Amino acid sequence: MLTDIYNTTYKFIELCNFNILNFIFIGFTVVIVIFGSLINIVETLLPDCLRQSFRYGKHCHKGPANALISMTEIPKSWFKHFYIFSFTWSLLALSLLLKGFIMNATAPELVLEFLDFVAGGQANRNVQVNSTSALVASVLLTIQCARRFYETNFVQIFSKNSKINWSHYLVGHLHYFGAILALLSNTEGFVRGTLPSAFSLKHITLIQCLCIFIFHFSWTQQYKSNMILVNLRKDAKSGEVKTENHLLPTGGFFNIISSPHMFFEVVMYLAILGLLHTSTTWLLVVIWVFVNQLANALLTHKWYKENFKNYPKNRKALIPFIL
Ligand SMILES: NC(=O)c1ccc[n+]([C@@H]2O[C@H](COP(=O)([O-])OP(=O)(O)OC[C@H]3O[C@@H](n4cnc5c(N)ncnc54)[C@H](OP(=O)(O)O)[C@@H]3O)[C@@H](O)[C@H]2O)c1
Repeated sequence: MLTDIYNTTYKFIELCNFNILNFIFIGFTVVIVIFGSLINIVETLLPDCLRQSFRYGKHCHKGPANALISMTEIPKSWFKHFYIFSFTWSLLALSLLLKGFIMNATAPELVLEFLDFVAGGQANRNVQVNSTSALVASVLLTIQCARRFYETNFVQIFSKNSKINWSHYLVGHLHYFGAILALLSNTEGFVRGTLPSAFSLKHITLIQCLCIFIFHFSWTQQYKSNMILVNLRKDAKSGEVKTENHLLPTGGFFNIISSPHMFFEVVMYLAILGLLHTSTTWLLVVIWVFVNQLANALLTHKWYKENFKNYPKNRKALIPFIL
């Protein structure tokens, strides 16, 4: 029975060149563009249940709560689950890439079958990315997931009252599921009949080196921004948590934008695009991350301006000096 469903679905995937990964990221982008624009532009005209589902954390919906939507809300601290999952998933992808290099072999049949299923079928899956670029991109993404795993599980101070909707929780997991598979789905050694080419830094262009540097800078700055938020809630002398309130962050890139951690998130995905510029799926990942972070950063910026009378006028929402 299950095999029949799988076979029929797979036939459909291959016949229609239906790429599940691309579908996920295009779908996310369309939804966030529509609802993000509505919330940011004509929010007062929208039903409370929609506003309550979309908003989360400090800019969560403050009006009348819909009982059904409230039942589907979960603690925002469950953000840490994204990184338990993504760190494990990214390590698995990285180990498969390394194994391919070491053994000079195509990925195991099970992996190929899985990638065929999620990325358009065997007949439609072709090589877009060389294995060296994929390996470097995979190392960068794994380092990012590792740091976020550490931060969310051991450093970040989540307020007990902060909530997210279950849909945010699902989207977060699907994001990492798809983004990490995007590193492999069109890479040499992960497409049938191909082998990883020998690891060579000659495959990394000067522009790609620049992207690695930009990634490193953004990675460090995102950590610094997150630590500024953590320290806002701590007593400077004792290091004890003294409040769970949302205070006015200052210092670093907070002096010019309201959400530097979101800005650097986008820049890191863009930097990886420098390595995977031939990958259609990764381009879709970057577009989705940008629109998602923009919608959230605009709501955050508005929240700061409404809650702090002395909010610095020169501070932009997401992009320094521009937006
Ligand atoms: N790749 C993607 O598509 C994607 C999607 C979503 C998020 N992210 C990334 O995940 C990270 C976290 O996102 P987020 O939406 O949770 O960010 P956030 O709302 O700014 O929250 C980050 C942390 O800082 C705390 N915090 C926020 N503002 C504060 C303030 N004014 N004073 C004191 N503490 C404050 C929050 O506490 P509370 O518990 O009270 O909220 C939370 O622990 C960001 O780096 C973002 O880029 C990535």
